[in-house]
Amino acid sequence: MNISSAKELRSLFLRFFAEKGHAVIPSASVIPENDPTVLFTTAGMHPLVPYLMGEKHPMGNRLTDVQKCIRTGDIDDVGDPSHLTFFEMLGNWSLGDYFKEKMIPWSWEFLTSKDWLGLDPDRLAFTVFEGDEDAPRDEEAANLWRAQGVQDDHLFYLPKKHNWWGPAGLTGPCGPDTEMFIIKDQPPCGPNCSPACFCGRYLEIWNDVFMQYEKQADGTFVPLKQKNVDTGMGLERTFCVLMGANTVYETEIFAGIIGKIEELSGRKYGETPEITRSIRIIADHMRTATFIIGDDRGVTPSNVDQGYVLRRLIRRAVRHGMSLGMPQGFTCEIAQVIIDQYKDVYPELERHADFILEQLKLEEDRFQHTLKKGMAEFDKVYNGMMRRREAFTALKADKANPDAVAAALRQLPPSPENKPIIEQVKDGSVSDETIDALIRATEVMDGRSAFKLYDTYGFPVEITTELAAEKGIAVDTEGFAERFKKHQENSHAGAEQRFKGGLADHSEQTARLHTATHLLHAALRRVLGPEVAQKGSNITAERLRFDFSFGRKMTEEEKQEVERLVNEYIKASAPIVCEEMTVPEAKAQGAIGLFESKYGERVKVYTMGEFSKEICGGPHASNTGELKSFKIKKEEASSAGVRRIKAVIGE
Ligand code: ALA
Repeated sequence: MNISSAKELRSLFLRFFAEKGHAVIPSASVIPENDPTVLFTTAGMHPLVPYLMGEKHPMGNRLTDVQKCIRTGDIDDVGDPSHLTFFEMLGNWSLGDYFKEKMIPWSWEFLTSKDWLGLDPDRLAFTVFEGDEDAPRDEEAANLWRAQGVQDDHLFYLPKKHNWWGPAGLTGPCGPDTEMFIIKDQPPCGPNCSPACFCGRYLEIWNDVFMQYEKQADGTFVPLKQKNVDTGMGLERTFCVLMGANTVYETEIFAGIIGKIEELSGRKYGETPEITRSIRIIADHMRTATFIIGDDRGVTPSNVDQGYVLRRLIRRAVRHGMSLGMPQGFTCEIAQVIIDQYKDVYPELERHADFILEQLKLEEDRFQHTLKKGMAEFDKVYNGMMRRREAFTALKADKANPDAVAAALRQLPPSPENKPIIEQVKDGSVSDETIDALIRATEVMDGRSAFKLYDTYGFPVEITTELAAEKGIAVDTEGFAERFKKHQENSHAGAEQRFKGGLADHSEQTARLHTATHLLHAALRRVLGPEVAQKGSNITAERLRFDFSFGRKMTEEEKQEVERLVNEYIKASAPIVCEEMTVPEAKAQGAIGLFESKYGERVKVYTMGEFSKEICGGPHASNTGELKSFKIKKEEASSAGVRRIKAVIGE
């Protein structure tokens, strides 16, 4: 075989097709431009859909490239030996030019010729479409393989489930395919062993799709104007197979990234199954996150669409990083390795390097800040569940034991629905079925707790589910979804009343102005002295109004200095972090506390960079940069010893 690095495989493939008259085109964005049905580019053909449908491509009708692809459908499986959320796909296309008659001999040549991969034909197997009501059995492809010398025991006919590809979204170009496999040095798993079974003997390396149909919205397939070829070779997987490596993570593609993780954590890949899994998750998720942010159409972490996937990837990596003892800021160090590794092939990563590092730092900081507290909250909920399980299990074993009865009663809050059960436990008449139901309830974390972890500690529900699975419990994700929906409806209702003033709603504009109030408060204390205290606040759509204790009119210089400071805080783009704690804890951290008597035991503390820490109910912007700019409109007397500032922020 003629390759020993992924770089060589990339260039060998592109050179082969360039020599066959294909134009080498750059990778398109990982964020699809014209397809709202999918979040990410999932295959090399995805950006080429208009051309497969008949539009003229400026580079001609023979193309080849290496495309950045993201598939997050199996994100929860990442950590096992084979799943990746980001991969590179090598591909070549005929846009209504050649078809099977050229593609199959070329595939054979690339795989077996000593000038190219030079693989032993005896180690290769092939599948073709067996035919159904939508399209005929692909004897043409089978015969073309036979013409290369492929024996029938290396040729398999398989149904649509295996040998049909596309469309990339819900509708679009698709067709029967023929797939190529390396046969591993392991015996067949049985008489019916084939590339369709998952025993591991057959490893797919390449897929030639004969795109001649369009799937319609009604599920039918109609012939396309032109017959196309679309091929795809997953770089990481094919390279792994060619190298005979055990997993995609154990080739030189991941060596640098994993080496960095090992260096930062002091742990070793392979040390324990858990450590290996965490290292794989960090390596995969950081690579994907780097490519998402570093794309020319790059997105930033958020709570919707691509931004939410990105947030999940980063936060899951941060959580696993923390479990390995990685130092804060590790995401940037790993991203730097990834940028260096890929910048020659994907120069956009270098162009956007500062942006990548800045966004990763922000998101890591935001999450790191609440992660420990969130983990403590998770443990609290989990431990409560285990206490209940223990108590109810003991009760089931002996319903008359007074200690068991007392312990069980302690775990049953006196709610209306618990009332009859409490009576039954007391008089010993409680049935095994009732106790079993109580025990079963301790196996599923309730939606309210999962929502609190999301809302207060920034745990995507998938992280909570993963943590729960590690402990052998489930999460009521439906209960979570219900609360999540209600929360969004509330925010939405709030947005509609957004302009009624006060802090009655959660709209974005109000949140931003509210954040500006904190920054103004901090700046006033810095300029006028720490005796300045908030006396009142009122927010409308247009402006904020802030009343504070101060005995005289502010000078022009003081006003300018306050304005300058607030704008400096905004420019710092500091993440805004919310934590829950007790009032004494908040005070110990130096938070300024207002209206203390209004709050219960635990309070929320909002921290904005180094400059502001306040007890407050929220809501706030997530980053001071969202305020854009700040301007004082008026400074006047409000009442004796109280001044009033009206101010606005940037749109
Ligand atoms: N579009 C085909 C695939 O992704 C080549 O496998």
